[in-house]
Amino acid sequence: MHDEDISIYPEHIVNVAKDPKHFGRMNGPTSSAFIKGPCGDEMEFYLVIEDRIIKEVKFHTTGCIATIVCGSVAAQLALGKSIDEALSISPREIIGSLHGLPEEHSHCSILAVSTLYRAIADYLLKI
Ligand code: FES
Repeated sequence: MHDEDISIYPEHIVNVAKDPKHFGRMNGPTSSAFIKGPCGDEMEFYLVIEDRIIKEVKFHTTGCIATIVCGSVAAQLALGKSIDEALSISPREIIGSLHGLPEEHSHCSILAVSTLYRAIADYLLKI
């Protein structure tokens, strides 16, 4: 986690960041992606896809609290979805489900979704 001012975040967001679901890396994923955002935060997504359904998902980031939480929500939303459904997950959907993400951290949701999309693209380019 960054050395950052956590007072800008609502408590429920800090709590998710302390124990984020789907956090980690994966050996032998079907596809994966890495993006470094313009802010310097990095995001990785790992997917196991069977019959175009996302069966397992993990993300990893060294970024800020918002990046961790947005990655976790993006992973949660993608799990169990078809790749077509997952490609309709939007930054707005993530922000909407988080209630109180500071506006200056909206771009963290874009980084999360972009990395998820790129991991799906990695799969589509292989099949
Ligand atoms: Fe840039 Fe979080 S501060 S992705």
